[in-house]
Amino acid sequence: MRAEINRQWLLASRPRGTVAEADFRCHEVPCPNIGSGQFLVRTLYVSVDPGLRGWLTHSPEYLSEAIDLYRDALFVTRGQMTVPPQYSAPLSIGAVMCGSALGQVVESRHPEFAVGDFVSGLLGWQEYCASDGTAQVPVFRFKRVHPLPRYLGVLGNSGMTAYFGMLDVAKPRAGETVLVSGAAGATGSTAAQIAKIRQCRVIGVAGGDEKRRWLTEQLGLDAAIDYKSEDLDARLKELCPDGVNVYFDNVGGRTLEIVLDHMATWGRIALCGAISDYDHAGAPAGPANLVHLATRRIRMEGFLAPDYAPRYREARRQLSAWLATGALKSCEDIHEGFENIPRAFLGLFRGANIGKAMVKLADPV
Ligand SMILES: NC(=O)c1ccc[n+]([C@@H]2O[C@H](COP(=O)([O-])OP(=O)(O)OC[C@H]3O[C@@H](n4cnc5c(N)ncnc54)[C@H](OP(=O)(O)O)[C@@H]3O)[C@@H](O)[C@H]2O)c1
Repeated sequence: MRAEINRQWLLASRPRGTVAEADFRCHEVPCPNIGSGQFLVRTLYVSVDPGLRGWLTHSPEYLSEAIDLYRDALFVTRGQMTVPPQYSAPLSIGAVMCGSALGQVVESRHPEFAVGDFVSGLLGWQEYCASDGTAQVPVFRFKRVHPLPRYLGVLGNSGMTAYFGMLDVAKPRAGETVLVSGAAGATGSTAAQIAKIRQCRVIGVAGGDEKRRWLTEQLGLDAAIDYKSEDLDARLKELCPDGVNVYFDNVGGRTLEIVLDHMATWGRIALCGAISDYDHAGAPAGPANLVHLATRRIRMEGFLAPDYAPRYREARRQLSAWLATGALKSCEDIHEGFENIPRAFLGLFRGANIGKAMVKLADPV
């Protein structure tokens, strides 16, 4: 079932400093017609992700690489190892906002995609999207076993990021002290729970008392620090007298600098992201104490989840099994309505979300 009109959010201007709703513009076009070998997807849920902030302002080289990585990941996930042709240029003013989403096929002239199939991929911030499944709009099909939002959360990119970042990069051992920043967010909440499953002592850092309580009372973390009202340095001194063995860093900046002072010898830091640096003008606040890496023999390693795409099936299987036993809890922060996509995106930089933030556009049929 298609509508006549396809609403889209376009990039209206490049943010200078903090991104604003005015940087996006709502636009209406006719719903696309599909040709032979194509199918039409109706968007059901749009994912909002901090990484999109970089796509609004970063250099073309960085963007092309990021988009290619992501697109290749989708193809590897589908089991098609061939690399499709170059993706379009980085986001330009007036372009449909990029981003991942999940939807349902509503019309098809493609042999592999049938009406009713659920798909996930780079559909963008729009209500309908035509795809041939291979080139400009890469998508993969999935069977719905869990509630749909989970395929953008624990079973989507944030789950993959948490799984490989924690297990392959940070490699926590039972009994070690693991610290996770952004712990009440999509990636952080899953990463922290994985460390608990690995029998570590896990401490989360998040903004606000509600998040602090959620981490200990609902997710079962050993302790949580509200970095907005507590002194992070003093709390780490108190909670980690023998140092932090593993730090899963979602935040970067000043938080990373404070944590570095508390790292134990032979510690590991998985550098997942640096959201505290994304949404303002000027140079990011770099840690001034990197010498600890040498004196304490700490390994700090950055990673991108799509690098692990050939192993996404393994991760999804394991994460699904943990969800089934209740060892892992998923939490989605779902906004309603197409018009609220930019607002939900902006909320990430104020810490408005608990768990995976997304926007619901429509119900499946
Ligand atoms: N390496 C990869 O492949 C990969 C993939 C996906 C995401 N990431 C990165 O992982 C991190 C988390 O992404 P996500 O999608 O899971 O988002 P998220 O954690 O669900 O949402 C972002 C959270 O960041 C926190 N935050 C915002 N501004 C902050 C600041 N100035 N200082 C400290 N915390 C701040 C907020 O929580 P509080 O209320 O606690 O402040 C907010 O809820 C981001 O850095 C992202 O770029 C990396």
